[in-house]
Amino acid sequence: MMKRFGIALAAAAFTMVGGAGIATAQDAQPYIDADAEAGAAVFRQCSACHMVGPNAMARVGPPLNGIIGREWGSIEGFRYSDSHVAAGEEQGGVWTVAIMSEYLENPRAMVPRTRMAFAGLRQEAQIQNVIKYLAGFDADGNEVDPAPVLTEHYGGDM
Ligand code: HEC
Repeated sequence: MMKRFGIALAAAAFTMVGGAGIATAQDAQPYIDADAEAGAAVFRQCSACHMVGPNAMARVGPPLNGIIGREWGSIEGFRYSDSHVAAGEEQGGVWTVAIMSEYLENPRAMVPRTRMAFAGLRQEAQIQNVIKYLAGFDADGNEVDPAPVLTEHYGGDM
């Protein structure tokens, strides 16, 4: 595990030196420009298992308040799969916009033995819209301006 982490770090450093893959404020822009209301409609697909808002509790899946910038697998008392915990370590431990975007396209590609029975969202716009919607809830489920959340937690090296 330590060894794999070391390799990942080396790869990240190489990418930075190469100048490619450095996240900038511009990368967050499509998410800031996305449609949170359309994202609320997309979230209906998630709401069979997930809650957001002031009274959000664990259901089949953990509550998603403050998920952008939140630590992977951090809801107290929720039994995450080992695969989810391991993937979280591989991804750096925090739900950034970039990681969430990749996850929602195909959860099983990032978390091979996930307990989340969800195939993924095929359209980029759906992913951007639902991420903007989720960024609009803080850790207590209160509604906040998603733009600074999306910029601060876009991911990569800003
Ligand atoms: C059929 C139920 C189900 C659906 C539908 C579903 N999820 Fe999940 N989700 C889960 C479960 C169960 C987990 C825990 C996975 C594990 O431990 O392997 C999870 C985990 C997550 C996590 C990780 C949270 C953390 O604390 O690390 C995120 C983020 C997430 N889901 C987002 C979504 C979004 C966004 C949607 C809709 C686009 C969605 N899920 C649809 C059941 C579901």
